Amino acid sequence: MVVRKTPSELEKMRAAGMLVYEVLKALEAVVVEGVTTMELEVVAEKMIKDAGARPAFKNYFVPAVGQRYKYVLCTSVNDEIVHGLPSDKRVLKVGDVVSIDTGAELNGYFGDSAITVPIGPVDPKITRLLDVTRESLERAIEQVRPGNRLFDVCGAVERHVRASGFGIIKEYVGHGIGTQLHEEPQVPNYVDRNHENPRLKEGMVLAIEPMISAGKPDTKVAPDRWTAKTKDGSYSAHFEHCVAVTPDGPWVLTRP
Ligand code: MF3
Ligand code: CO
Repeated sequence: MVVRKTPSELEKMRAAGMLVYEVLKALEAVVVEGVTTMELEVVAEKMIKDAGARPAFKNYFVPAVGQRYKYVLCTSVNDEIVHGLPSDKRVLKVGDVVSIDTGAELNGYFGDSAITVPIGPVDPKITRLLDVTRESLERAIEQVRPGNRLFDVCGAVERHVRASGFGIIKEYVGHGIGTQLHEEPQVPNYVDRNHENPRLKEGMVLAIEPMISAGKPDTKVAPDRWTAKTKDGSYSAHFEHCVAVTPDGPWVLTRP
């Protein structure tokens, strides 16, 4: 069942979303050559706690792994797609791209957002990968309107990415969000005829998160059992926003 939120609930989700936005904005400013992904984790945890919120990912049980996640952030570098574990051994260097994904629970409501940041100049193909992934999210956001269907959202990502020749990751998907980090429906980054295609109604909130590979879309899980990587070692990009369906169109809760 897809839970719809009242306008006052959406305001609470907005507050959680804006906290997540502020955290990512702060991290974007500190993520430079020589910084470790654990340093980012420390900054994020302090900001979320200082705001009176709770890090949404920390202690979150992920059935596919059979464990609780231990960190505030997912920091996925280069060929890592998602669920990269912050580490004081992972020193970022010029040419890297790092996906920073975080969530917060504030007053019972969740926000969840991700950005992928290049460290210094990166390969032009990878700059294009980031652009195409960001654009595909924007195309999807445009489709979040009453009367449209979920496949309009999924299809917008798919069409834009397919035209670019990049690979759509299929094993990891977006999701509904609200009083739970993950709610129905699942939001794949392509039209999956095996999924439901609900009509979008006022008050629904989708966390849309294209994960796109510069090469083939096949994935594997690292020995740490969490980090999802591309099988062929190609770099991957990830952007995410929470978007509410309103009578006036899409409301992106995780940016101003
Ligand atoms: N944004 C990702 C998601 O919604 C990251 C979740 S990390 C987890 O699935 F550990 F909390 F699962
Ligand atoms: Co998410």
